[in-house]
Amino acid sequence: MDVPYITIQQTGAKMPAIGAGTFGSDHVNHDDMAQSVKTALKLGYRNIDCARVYANEKEIGKVLKASAIKRDELWITSKLWNDMHGKKNVGISLRQTLNDLQLDYLDLFLVHWPFPNFHPPMCDVTSRNPDARPYIHEEFMETWRAMEDLVDQGLVRHIGTSNMSKAKLELLLATCRIRPIANEMELHPCFQQPELLSYVKQEGIIPIGFSPLGSPNRPERDTTETDAIDMEHPAVLAVAKTHNIHPAAICIKWARANGIVPIPQSTKERNLKSNLESIMSDPLTLMEVAMLKEADCNSRLIKGQVFLWEEAKNWAELWDEDGLIRVPERYRR
Ligand SMILES: NC(=O)c1ccc[n+]([C@@H]2O[C@H](COP(=O)([O-])OP(=O)(O)OC[C@H]3O[C@@H](n4cnc5c(N)ncnc54)[C@H](OP(=O)(O)O)[C@@H]3O)[C@@H](O)[C@H]2O)c1
Repeated sequence: MDVPYITIQQTGAKMPAIGAGTFGSDHVNHDDMAQSVKTALKLGYRNIDCARVYANEKEIGKVLKASAIKRDELWITSKLWNDMHGKKNVGISLRQTLNDLQLDYLDLFLVHWPFPNFHPPMCDVTSRNPDARPYIHEEFMETWRAMEDLVDQGLVRHIGTSNMSKAKLELLLATCRIRPIANEMELHPCFQQPELLSYVKQEGIIPIGFSPLGSPNRPERDTTETDAIDMEHPAVLAVAKTHNIHPAAICIKWARANGIVPIPQSTKERNLKSNLESIMSDPLTLMEVAMLKEADCNSRLIKGQVFLWEEAKNWAELWDEDGLIRVPERYRR
């Protein structure tokens, strides 16, 4: 059985409906992650979710180079890290990524976060960059224009966003020349983001769901006591029992039923295999999809505290939860 595909409205290109994640949550070493990509390709994955900040593109590139799979059968995504926003840096960063992945082009290049704020690798939750800034649309558009130029140059087939709010996407869609074809966003049964998800779909943007299993081994800085655990939620367990499968498989099937492309990460062959099979067989019934709506408790896991700027006191300010983008006076142009 083949992996299903989702057709991109703007170009007719086809994105495989599940991808393999490559962020090792700071504890999987780069060679092990590359090995998991090799296993994923062997099992039939054709969509790999990379990022510059995961620092393992060189190792993954060796696996891609050695693979006998034709380039046009693969969907490779990577992401611009926050330290390379801005007109001059975007092309430089993309070329480094292409070089490390040993590719001539990417299928999808995402702006990883809409802020140029970054943190040192392995930092803790209290880490703050003194130069961190709120979202400033004019600055973001300088980065986006450079992303558009990469499409013109044929170096990336599509561009997209990640970690955006509806308010930020509305601004982007009103001002861009080339639209984002996808928005990578946190999506799992305990964090369904119904308003943003339906807006993205209504705009013909593909929702790529990160942390689709609730990221059980995520870094310490992204873990709080009140976080929900998807694979232990009673609604997820109840549906898993009816299908007689692991709750992880229900999280993947939930994504598929909601038009989301999940990108689960695993270093274990049996989990990679089971996640792939979950997308291809035994879909949820409408009744089960309705039951799983009850699992949504707005439990955001990747809160982004380390990206906060000086005046911002709470991570909620990153996400424009009341629909407003707040920019303190001193940052306005
Ligand atoms: N755009 C962004 O800002 C952003 C943010 C976060 C993540 N991402 C992307 O999304 C990908 C996935 O997110 P994530 O890694 O945070 O979380 P996730 O995929 O929800 O969870 C990964 C964890 O689940 C375990 N797992 C995988 N399959 C399983 C199964 N069938 N049964 C039980 N456990 C299973 C894995 O452990 P084992 O290795 O033991 O299987 C791994 O530790 C990342 O790798 C990255 O590519 C993007």
